[in-house]
Amino acid sequence: MNKPIIALDFPNEKEVFKFLKPFDEKLFVKIGMELFFQEGPDIVREIKDLGHDIFLDLKLHDIPNTVQSAMKGLARMGVDLVNVHAAGGKKMMEAALEGLEAGSNGKRPMLIAVTQLTSTTEEQMQKEQRIPLTLMDSVLHYAQMTKEAGLDGVVCSVHEAKNIADVCGEEFIRVTPGIRLPGGDVHDQKRVATPDFARSNGSSYIVVGRAVTKAENPVEAYKNVCQLWEGN
Ligand code: C5P
Repeated sequence: MNKPIIALDFPNEKEVFKFLKPFDEKLFVKIGMELFFQEGPDIVREIKDLGHDIFLDLKLHDIPNTVQSAMKGLARMGVDLVNVHAAGGKKMMEAALEGLEAGSNGKRPMLIAVTQLTSTTEEQMQKEQRIPLTLMDSVLHYAQMTKEAGLDGVVCSVHEAKNIADVCGEEFIRVTPGIRLPGGDVHDQKRVATPDFARSNGSSYIVVGRAVTKAENPVEAYKNVCQLWEGN
């Protein structure tokens, strides 16, 4: 069972290390825009040096040439997982993969694409993005396009994970944020689910942020998440 990925959505490195200190095991953590843009690339190296696996969640979305060059740089940082927005198109995703391969020294990081953000509702997608599909069909379309571009998987909500596995195959990974402990606050997320539902509905990896980072006892909350996710 893959470890839950913990979203380190903290404003600075001090808060990150205060959070990580009480854990006596190596975690799979996610560094997103909030932390990366405050602290810069050093924070990646510092967390890597502690032995944790890293998902660098910068959701690249630009012209193919720019994304290719940026990915080359990210590959050199020795992270384990990176991502782009599938909305950037197939050519952009292929270029991202090429950049990653060019910049990697040996094993390249896994590359996945965001389909529709878990904070987006079907109504918003249809009205604001003018996509005349159901949310499920839009996510499945992006997933198929991502697979054709040769990427390793997608970011989606738990509610689409099983359908993506049916269409794209079990080995095509489904990384699912929007995870909440039973009865927990949903915050700004819309398509949420519990870790046990994620397991039964085809997630390969769950991403958990505030349900652990804002808990009164984060280590205990992490253990609860693991128990539900692993089904013990
Ligand atoms: O606190 P919470 O568990 O909602 O955090 C979810 C994390 O996953 C955030 O860091 C957010 O940026 C990220 N994410 C997401 N939906 C996506 C892709 C990434 O919520 N589709």
